[in-house]
Amino acid sequence: MNKLPKHVAIIMDGNGRWANLQGKSRVKGHQQGARTVRDIVEEAKNKGIKYLTLYAFSKDNWSRPKEEVNILMKLLVTSLKKEYNRLINNNIRLQSIGEVNDLPTPVKDELNYVIIKTKNNTGMVLTLAINYGGKEELTEAMKTIAFKVKNSIISPEKVDQSTINQHLYTRNLPAVDLLIRTSGEERISNFLLWHIAYAELYFTDTLWPDFKKEDLHKAIVDYAKRERRFGKTSQQLTN
Ligand code: FPP
Repeated sequence: MNKLPKHVAIIMDGNGRWANLQGKSRVKGHQQGARTVRDIVEEAKNKGIKYLTLYAFSKDNWSRPKEEVNILMKLLVTSLKKEYNRLINNNIRLQSIGEVNDLPTPVKDELNYVIIKTKNNTGMVLTLAINYGGKEELTEAMKTIAFKVKNSIISPEKVDQSTINQHLYTRNLPAVDLLIRTSGEERISNFLLWHIAYAELYFTDTLWPDFKKEDLHKAIVDYAKRERRFGKTSQQLTN
């Protein structure tokens, strides 16, 4: 496929509704969601996608019932432990974006362990957004830049898009080409605000636990058919 997106980002939504429909507890929905993560990571890598970014836990998810937050945190730890070998075998590099320092110690430790162990992998970069918020990311960047300006480290006239980019958690990520959201909701929910400026958006009614390799394929085929103009006219692109 000649128009493969380089960077795919996914808002994994619908674990709770999936569980409800099955008459199961929300935990089961998240557990099934974690299995989907495993399959989709492997499929994205097999398809040759270079960057995959997953919204695993938003800043706003802390306001869920405490038990659910604890379950999600535990699931992150067990998934990282369980998938470690698969990441190594598939040459995948793990990284995270978000306020990792505010996470419970076991999550922080496991995450850092896998990040360090996979840091020399040269294949797909898998980024987990954990305790992440796009507005918070931009605010932190502005704060650091303001501080540097105040201390004459940067001159205000020199502040441009690349300055902002370099101060984001996502500084080493390219722009998002394709943003997928499952479960029929059509919103961005504070995800990667800077990096989705020209992303193609793909919404599907499929709930995340039901999202299969074929669904990823469908989204990529849909993306390949789109004309990305980046502000230009269609005619300019064909000339
Ligand atoms: C949305 O479903 C999903 C989440 C809040 C978190 C995503 C977490 C996972 C897929 C589990 C494990 C993750 C990793 C990276 C191993 P929801 O609970 O908002 O669903 P609802 O809107 O139907 O209630």
